Amino acid sequence: MKKIIFRFALLLVMGMLTYALTGCDKKDSEAKSASDPKVTLPASQEKSNDAKEEDKADKPAKEAEEEKTAEEDADKEEGPAAHYGTVEVSEEIIFSNNFDDGKMDFTGRGPAKTQIVTDKAADGTGSMFVSGRTALWNGATVDLSGIMKINETYIIKARVMYENGPDSVRMDCKLEKNNEEYLSFASAMANKGEWTPISGIIIVPEDTVNAEVYFETGFAAGEMIDFYVDEVVIYTENAVVNRGELPSLKDIYKDNFSMGVAVTNAELSPARKELILEQFNSMTAGNEMKPDSLLDYAKCISDPKYDDNPAVKFDRAKLILDFAQENGIKLRGHTLVWHSQTPRWFFAEGYSQEANAPLVSKELMLKRLENYIKQVLEYTQTNYPGLIYAWDVVNEAVNPSDGAEGFLRTRDSLWYQVIGPEFIEKAFEYARKYADKDVKLFYNDYNTEESGRVQGITKLAASLKEKGLIDGIGLQSHFAEGSPSLVDFEKSVRDYGELGLEIQITELDMRLGENTEEAYMRQAKRYKRLFVMLKNLDDTGAANITNVTFWGLSDDISWLNEPGKPSYPLLFDKYLLQKPAFWAVALSPDIPLY
Ligand code: XIL
Repeated sequence: MKKIIFRFALLLVMGMLTYALTGCDKKDSEAKSASDPKVTLPASQEKSNDAKEEDKADKPAKEAEEEKTAEEDADKEEGPAAHYGTVEVSEEIIFSNNFDDGKMDFTGRGPAKTQIVTDKAADGTGSMFVSGRTALWNGATVDLSGIMKINETYIIKARVMYENGPDSVRMDCKLEKNNEEYLSFASAMANKGEWTPISGIIIVPEDTVNAEVYFETGFAAGEMIDFYVDEVVIYTENAVVNRGELPSLKDIYKDNFSMGVAVTNAELSPARKELILEQFNSMTAGNEMKPDSLLDYAKCISDPKYDDNPAVKFDRAKLILDFAQENGIKLRGHTLVWHSQTPRWFFAEGYSQEANAPLVSKELMLKRLENYIKQVLEYTQTNYPGLIYAWDVVNEAVNPSDGAEGFLRTRDSLWYQVIGPEFIEKAFEYARKYADKDVKLFYNDYNTEESGRVQGITKLAASLKEKGLIDGIGLQSHFAEGSPSLVDFEKSVRDYGELGLEIQITELDMRLGENTEEAYMRQAKRYKRLFVMLKNLDDTGAANITNVTFWGLSDDISWLNEPGKPSYPLLFDKYLLQKPAFWAVALSPDIPLY
């Protein structure tokens, strides 16, 4: 990849590169290139060590010794590394410009100018100089409409440099979608005078017609400086994955709970759909069914009749709803009432978007709440009957650190501020009123093992239960390697279980700081301890656990990833290859508990 000279828009498949060439560390590549993926037998089908010892009892010592060595070798091959399957990755360059041969594909964005210079270069003989900027968004842009394809994942690599200005500047590369949305593609902090690599990844959204890729200085710490860009390459990775034969998680846990996965529209590629259907029997929309996706602002302000009856739209949710319906996979609805991802204008007089617009009265907000819930439930129940089996009616309403009565969240909750604490019960009341009778209503929250939240949630859920308004408690379960303590977590599940409500693990992930084999293994062991615990809690009746949902399918697309700081929290890697964590959740005997 060091020196790539291809013509603009020339589609070229680079020879098959091994996974090792794509930037992962050696250990990773060794593990992943195991050529003979093996499947772990369930523990019951494996010969126990005792039985093997008996077989050997009357064999001559030497023969037994040789056999033992062979067995040890076989054991080695049977180890977790053998279960990763294989992947072959090829790269397809869709765009490149290195400014060495006089070719300039970029034009100025705004009044900025782009030109090739030969006195500065990160590599080769030339680079692009961007000057004449009068606003942060000015820079260099190239139109890749028709070349970048929707739902395809692209990687960009380039080098940037500037000579005059502050000591360091944030450089951004973005995708301008349909001339109206600006999506982050790559970003880097550059030090003055140093050629700095900038790289990133993007999935082109479904509704992209016009796609331009541009460089600018970042809005957070940007400057109106001139800058240089060189060695721009945009490519896709085509991975041919052989996972071997995987056991199906939904089958493994069929007697305990359904197994779910959260997905966003951008993730519904054919390869992902296939894996989802193989492994899971429940889905949650990662964003598409939250108020900021469903509320139809244009319609809301189009006529005063919407003032107490907010207009909703389902165009963003449609892809997921249709996929689930067509494939007979049930959905958790997420989420009706939440302080986050709900626009402020929803609470404002006249749906005003002004930052300080006055908020509506409690009475009007209760009407908006009821009608919003009514419409969301009626639309989904009419168009997708029986599809959504549970709703997170209220999300994250408890926050002990706010110091309020009932441990409720007050400071950043417009629901609380406009309606008062009764917004929670009202939301459940309306949801019960409009939900089909077998739809389960959930209260959902995070850090649910903390003692303050256990108290707050238990109190809230008990009072809702008394009124017949709640069916379950959702525990988000965003875990790290070291927290929460599984002892605390188990204790809290037992406490919630005592309420006699269903328990669902609604947003499980486990972030890691690195993707070494050691870290993967630590993560796998912890996942295994968690699943053994959950199964046991359910088997023994300590808690009626009815669903466990992972907050994402594969590590490359997780809400925990930050630019330059991936988090590796899920069961599959970016090529959709199973990680040790998968085998842990599958309860493979190859993954120890400790
Ligand atoms: C997250 C999504 O995954 C992100 O894409 C989005 O930017 C923020 O929200 N608790 C919840 C989920 O209940 O809805 C959140 O999802 C993660 C935390």
